[in-house]
Amino acid sequence: MKLEIKNKNQIDEAIADRICNLIQSKPNCVLGLATGSSPIGVYKLLASKNISFKDVTTFNLDEYYPIDINNKNSYHYFMNEHLFSKIDINKSNIHFPSLDNNYDQMIDKAGGIDFQILGIGSNGHIAFNEPGTEFNSLTHIVNLASSTIKDNSRFFNSIDEVPTKAITMGLASIMKAKEIVIIVTGSNKANALKELMSGNISKDFPASILNNHSNVTVYADKEAAKLC
Ligand code: F6R
Repeated sequence: MKLEIKNKNQIDEAIADRICNLIQSKPNCVLGLATGSSPIGVYKLLASKNISFKDVTTFNLDEYYPIDINNKNSYHYFMNEHLFSKIDINKSNIHFPSLDNNYDQMIDKAGGIDFQILGIGSNGHIAFNEPGTEFNSLTHIVNLASSTIKDNSRFFNSIDEVPTKAITMGLASIMKAKEIVIIVTGSNKANALKELMSGNISKDFPASILNNHSNVTVYADKEAAKLC
């Protein structure tokens, strides 16, 4: 894995540029998208660029389960708010995992994910693959870890409103992406980044599987990298 230490604006610009270059060279590329705080700056930049997403296909990593997609805390709502409503993407090219679709098959049929954006949980989760998830997992329903529920409660009125389950792409689904970037910023991610970069691969720290992928760039700021 390649580690790039930059400030958050530089990280957002570097990733947005990579995505724009990809769309220019392959207008019908397939993007894997994350929600949460980490990718918001990238989406803002993408929305401000004069680039067409009309032939681009997207697959989001995860969604709470169950949740009304019009709920302000749903990831459908988040993506519409931060990206989809601001670009010319064809709505039928937007995909989220659900119980009604065979998500991994759909991704394969679309030709596989060319470029995957990830964030990381303070407990090492990627998408909602919590510690203990099998490395060969495909899209599945998960019980969210109590630390994830606590971390995500900042978006809700109270911790009791945070859903306790989600549907997520699995670790094997993510590892099939041709190119992966992971955004790790802020001192609350310092322990996670240290563990990720240690090279130890363990189910207890799901993101560690990325060490086995041949094209991963870790974008970290200096607060997150303070223990590396
Ligand atoms: C969101 C997702 C999660 C987040 C992670 C970090 O789609 O898959 O794994 O990337 O929880 O969240 P933030 O970016 O809010 O710190």
